[in-house]
Amino acid sequence: MWNRLVIMFCFCFLITGISSCPKKGIKTTSKASPAVKQVGDKRIFFNYDEFNITEASADILLDVIAVLQDNPDAQVALTGHADNRGSHDYNLALGAKRADSAKKFMVNCTPYLGKRIKTASKGETEPLVQVKDNSKNSKYEKEHAKNRRVEFSFSGIKK
Ligand SMILES: *[C@@H]1O[C@H](CO)[C@@H](O)[C@H](O)[C@H]1NC(C)=O
Repeated sequence: MWNRLVIMFCFCFLITGISSCPKKGIKTTSKASPAVKQVGDKRIFFNYDEFNITEASADILLDVIAVLQDNPDAQVALTGHADNRGSHDYNLALGAKRADSAKKFMVNCTPYLGKRIKTASKGETEPLVQVKDNSKNSKYEKEHAKNRRVEFSFSGIKK
């Protein structure tokens, strides 16, 4: 209960990828106990070659935090993905930055959850949408955008 209140007072600044949590109210719709599966199916997305947390992403990350708070034994793995522009090594690193950026946002809000948040990267190897055209000015920007994401996987949830 109190954890939930702390979150509601946790307003996270979203400027140039830096996030912090001064004591201000965030606008949430007080989603009471979001269903774990529903949250686990969500994804956050990123601009080309960026790892900034957008406002839409912040909203989803707060839902992920709420699941961890509601389930004291739960852990979450954040897996970062990239589109297929750039080398494999570059994309692995970019996916890791995306996952780390999401974790950083969450830890800034709720430092005590840090140990229960793992990160990983798949680079460009697991696209949601297959796009053959990997040129920088690809005509398939919408498709590429779906692949630049972080996904959530919960474990330790008691049924
Ligand atoms: C993301 O961060 C970079 C580097 O700070 C900045 O140049 C860019 O404008 C940011 N993008 C968004 C969408 O905020």
